[in-house]
Amino acid sequence: MATPQKLTSSPCTALKGDLTPPGDKSISHRSVMLGGIAEGTTTVTGLLEGEDVLCTVAALREMGAKIAKDEKNVWHIEGVGPAGLQEPKNVLDVGNSGTSARLLIGLCAGNAFTARFTGDASLRKRPMGRIVEPLSRMGARFESENGKLPLSVTGAANPTPITYELPVASAQVKSAILLAGLGAEGVTRVIEPVPTRDHSENMLRSFGATLAVTKREDGADIVSLTGKPHLKAQHIDVPADPSSAAFPLVAALLCPGSRVVLRNVGLNPRRAGLISVLREMGGSIAIENRRMQGGEPVADLTVTPGELSGIDVPASHAPNMIDEYPILFAAAACAKGTMRMRGLKELRVKESDRLALMAKGLAQCGVNLDIEGDDMIIHGTGKPPKGGVCVETAMDHRIAMSFLVLGMQTPEPVSIDDGSFIATSFPGFTAMMNGLGAKIQNG
Ligand code: S3P
Repeated sequence: MATPQKLTSSPCTALKGDLTPPGDKSISHRSVMLGGIAEGTTTVTGLLEGEDVLCTVAALREMGAKIAKDEKNVWHIEGVGPAGLQEPKNVLDVGNSGTSARLLIGLCAGNAFTARFTGDASLRKRPMGRIVEPLSRMGARFESENGKLPLSVTGAANPTPITYELPVASAQVKSAILLAGLGAEGVTRVIEPVPTRDHSENMLRSFGATLAVTKREDGADIVSLTGKPHLKAQHIDVPADPSSAAFPLVAALLCPGSRVVLRNVGLNPRRAGLISVLREMGGSIAIENRRMQGGEPVADLTVTPGELSGIDVPASHAPNMIDEYPILFAAAACAKGTMRMRGLKELRVKESDRLALMAKGLAQCGVNLDIEGDDMIIHGTGKPPKGGVCVETAMDHRIAMSFLVLGMQTPEPVSIDDGSFIATSFPGFTAMMNGLGAKIQNG
């Protein structure tokens, strides 16, 4: 385990700059997985080289895919082709990455071999029952002590194509079932009452799979994938991650006199909830140059500060901005008036219990807040809280980055106990933020 790396963010003035945030984590994972099982060599530009995605790269290599980066930073993934995945000899350690764990277990569930998975202390606490249950119905067999990692999966030689209604709004569960369904004879269906990110569906289609999305009478989406497709290698140009862009974006909204341009940011409607919420709060975010990149909508964002006001964010927003709540809490802590964010149960099972941990750290910084059921209520004064504390991050990259952004405006610095996990999703975060004018230092 890496040594904890304490970081301190001190008050700064205007942020200025023009940058492209790192590649989208969800799209990067999926490009490595689908590239790894397709026929031919997939090329990927803009791949997120964060620790989470590198865990997926290592796992696919362990199962037979040849993956290398060339001198121009283009990743080449030689796929193993239909039924070509090999049984991994070693335990697949996917570190901090829930996406690697759930999607790769799904992939293995449709292949007749045994794979063993483990992860770090954060990932070993996270629920896997949500994938074990549907994948068992498809014929996979599991061994685990408590429905969590470490876990071993023995895939089905002939997976059963199931129809499964998601009990939790989770793109990871949906994707795990679809990846297992690739090995099934017939149509696997996932019903989503609440839409979640659809990168798996988009990418499966672009690799040549037959995948249809229809509506149930009540409006739920039915995603139908025909099994045993011939997946053909693609070129993928990964857009910048809106979840990572969220940190410099909120920082620029909060720091007076700022002007920050964020290029190539993915604006898939199922990911872009934060932008509409911040705009409704009064944030000034200009969206320009809308275009398509790698099958996904992207645009350039120009962010300038404004007075933010607390609003009511309905639970229906949660799936389209689930990873952005920690940084939204930081924004709400500096806004004027009460901000109520509803339906945040899923935040309790992320890299940490984000509801509890953010509440604890914000309260230490001097924020007046309440948690009622699964709602977070933040009573802002229109001024940043005082800061002057060191908060616990519990191996959670987004908690770490959220408090460092808050510390840019609190009168007293904010420290975090460990910034090493930032590298899971946003390598180079500190340098990028300091390049804009932030004052983040070791220690
Ligand atoms: C992800 C889905 C989300 C998100 C995670 C990445 C994905 O999780 O929180 O960071 O790539 O599919 P859930 O689908 O479990 O909500």
